[in-house]
Amino acid sequence: MTDRVFIFDTTLRDGEQSPGATMTHNEKIEIAGMLDEMGVDIIEAGFPIASQGDFEAVSAIAKNATNSIICGLSRANFADIDRAHEATKHAPQSRIHTFIGTSPSHREITKLDMDGMAEKIHQTVTHARNLCEDVQWSPMDATRTEHDFLCRVVEVAIKAGATTINIPDTVGYTAPRESAELIRMLLERVPGASDIIFATHCHNDLGMATANSLAAVEAGARQIECTINGLGERAGNTALEEVVMAMKVRNDIMPFHNKIDTTKIMSLSRKVATVSGFPVQFNKAIVGKNAFLHESGIHQDGVLKNVETFEIMRPADIGLTEDNIVLGKHSGRAALRSKLEGLGYTVADNQLNDIFVRFKELADSKKEVFDDDLIALVSDQSGEAAHDHLKLIDMQVVCGTLGPQTAELEISVDGESQKVTAEGDGPVDATFNAIRKVFDHSATLSLYQVSAVTEGTDAQATVSVRMEEDGKMVNGSSSHTDTVVASAKAYIMALNKLIVRRNKAAPV
Ligand code: KIV
Ligand code: ZN
Repeated sequence: MTDRVFIFDTTLRDGEQSPGATMTHNEKIEIAGMLDEMGVDIIEAGFPIASQGDFEAVSAIAKNATNSIICGLSRANFADIDRAHEATKHAPQSRIHTFIGTSPSHREITKLDMDGMAEKIHQTVTHARNLCEDVQWSPMDATRTEHDFLCRVVEVAIKAGATTINIPDTVGYTAPRESAELIRMLLERVPGASDIIFATHCHNDLGMATANSLAAVEAGARQIECTINGLGERAGNTALEEVVMAMKVRNDIMPFHNKIDTTKIMSLSRKVATVSGFPVQFNKAIVGKNAFLHESGIHQDGVLKNVETFEIMRPADIGLTEDNIVLGKHSGRAALRSKLEGLGYTVADNQLNDIFVRFKELADSKKEVFDDDLIALVSDQSGEAAHDHLKLIDMQVVCGTLGPQTAELEISVDGESQKVTAEGDGPVDATFNAIRKVFDHSATLSLYQVSAVTEGTDAQATVSVRMEEDGKMVNGSSSHTDTVVASAKAYIMALNKLIVRRNKAAPV
């Protein structure tokens, strides 16, 4: 058996399915491009039948793909499969992924007995295989499916032409030893099993997704399904950065290889955190802010004498570089560009011009511009799109103990400037009320989150908001040394996305 493990990223499908993690068309395309560049073997770009927006995003990702195989998800019916094929077929290499729930509770929901389900699997996988040479089939809730039935349906799918069989632990129920035994059993008992690739797809409900995925690989699975930052429904999916770095750092006991350029991990982690509105917890393995920080004296002393004392991997391995250069208001374009490159951002000349202007503004209001300030600046896409309907021009806020708190805003609406004033319960409320006067909407604010980018009273604040209207969720985020300005920009960014979504066709 080969030691090559394929990395299948489902950030744009299972990750995006996480409530509130909705991404825009352009954000999805950008993330797919970064995943492709990072060396992900297969990108599950979406669920094309779910909505017109999903279909268009998967199609665009397929057309832009270079090295990665682009995969579309479909349930076990011909219409879903046809739609997944339509959306992915323009990729240089495409895959149809079709699934059905096989455990007793899922059979009850679909009202199919074992024979009926086996027949449906035969028909749908055959249909998919007639459209595409690369077909992946998943028995959803495999880890709670009776073993004899699981072997039977896996055999049916292989005979019908599936080239990859994915074994999902849909509810995050399994444990490492069981995960390994399941793959071993399938490899031993199912005729034709050695001709296909087994994949492992784990959810993290019990915090074992990474361990379960690696155990499955040790038993013979050769594809890991994962997401950046472990984004995904409930407790999330297996985190790409964790399985990849585990196989790299402990290659002595897990002698497998993959194509991932690990130095791209940090920039993807930041991107996904920003666009999904799901910040990475500080102590998250690999990509958390504290993952490479040594606070205690004993640790600091040890690391200074020999980094290996307390560090099992280098920050540079995941794209974190320390060059000790702190930028300030006298720094020029070249220093900014080189700093950004060191942080893993390649920027085109026109982008650099825009970032430079914003960097100068920031450097005027803040003595030192740290790496995290620059990352916040580059990640801040509020007010960036030329076609944005709403743009913040200026704002003044009165706050304090005496009240009422008032906000006076000048906003451009489709190019026309409007001035509004509103009161509220605090400066942020007053600001949001003022924006509502310019652009009335019924969206509810389901998340408002503020975090400091660096330390000190002049630190920038990153504000993330999530808004919901008629089942549509959108995120906005912005960073500024003035928390209320960041709040206004994040709110306006979310509204701009909402306007785009309103104008899109209704879900299929
Ligand atoms: O968790 C799961 O079972 C899934 C399937 C659709 C593969 O995401
Ligand atoms: Zn899943």
